[in-house]
Amino acid sequence: MNDTYAVIGHPIGHTKSPLIHGLFAEATQQAMHYTAIEGPREPDDAFAATVREFITSGGKGMNITAPFKLAAFAMADEHSERATLAGAANAFKFEEGRVFAENFDGIGLLRDIEVNLHAPLEGKRVLLLGAGGAARGALLPFLGARPAELVMVNRHVAKARALASQLTQHGPITACAYGELDRMGRFDLVVNATSASLTGDLPPVPPSVFSPRGTAYELAYGKHLTPFLRLARNAGVAGVADGVGMLVEQAAEAFLWWRGVRPETQAVIDRLTVPLD
Ligand code: ATR
Repeated sequence: MNDTYAVIGHPIGHTKSPLIHGLFAEATQQAMHYTAIEGPREPDDAFAATVREFITSGGKGMNITAPFKLAAFAMADEHSERATLAGAANAFKFEEGRVFAENFDGIGLLRDIEVNLHAPLEGKRVLLLGAGGAARGALLPFLGARPAELVMVNRHVAKARALASQLTQHGPITACAYGELDRMGRFDLVVNATSASLTGDLPPVPPSVFSPRGTAYELAYGKHLTPFLRLARNAGVAGVADGVGMLVEQAAEAFLWWRGVRPETQAVIDRLTVPLD
């Protein structure tokens, strides 16, 4: 029987993961099967029970999406450093009865920016909007890319400050409030890791943070030109991107972790890309 993998989320109907992993498996000639599981939201322990059933049926690994990334982290036996910092897991590997948790969201984002968009972070000024799970996952990979400065901004600024002070030994990270941004100059890369775009909202970011030769990146994908990306465009930023590349790159990292083979990503990204305007 082929090795079985799955993505679990709620709702899971629109997931692209089976398509992405199916294309990877075909391209790398891996004999595997990948399905989507609608995870139960209640009772509290039903998520873990569903994962255990999947393991019992022979499952080898999983991707985890909203709203289960925290519950996934909580039920794992072993956690990578990235998952620990994010406090969230987006991938599981099951081996010898143990559940290993990883978080590839941040590394997938970094790869998309540096490799696909040709915008290396080294020596650059980076602004990260948000301090939730999505933003936290990006912090260690971003600092590892040696930016000149990484500034986090969040409405609840104490949350961003606490994270920044936890990470100062990893690189030049600071936190500020949105109201301070108009005195901070331009950034080479501005990443919207807030959940504002999911509701069509715009974080209160002034256009002065954008650099015309820089990059504006929206973690949400398939939403065309979000208010954040429109603001960046209007500020003259040529390089605007949504999170489709990140989605494919984090999947490629999970695939490599599970199968020991890194799939090519560009053709899959091209296939899933929705024009921004
Ligand atoms: P996720 O896992 O998607 O990161 P989350 O952990 O709930 O979700 O975090 C959501 C993030 O988006 C937070 O940083 C939140 O800011 P606060 O912590 O100050 O609430 C941010 N956010 C949500 N809506 C926003 C908006 N309209 N403007 C600015 N930030 C917003």
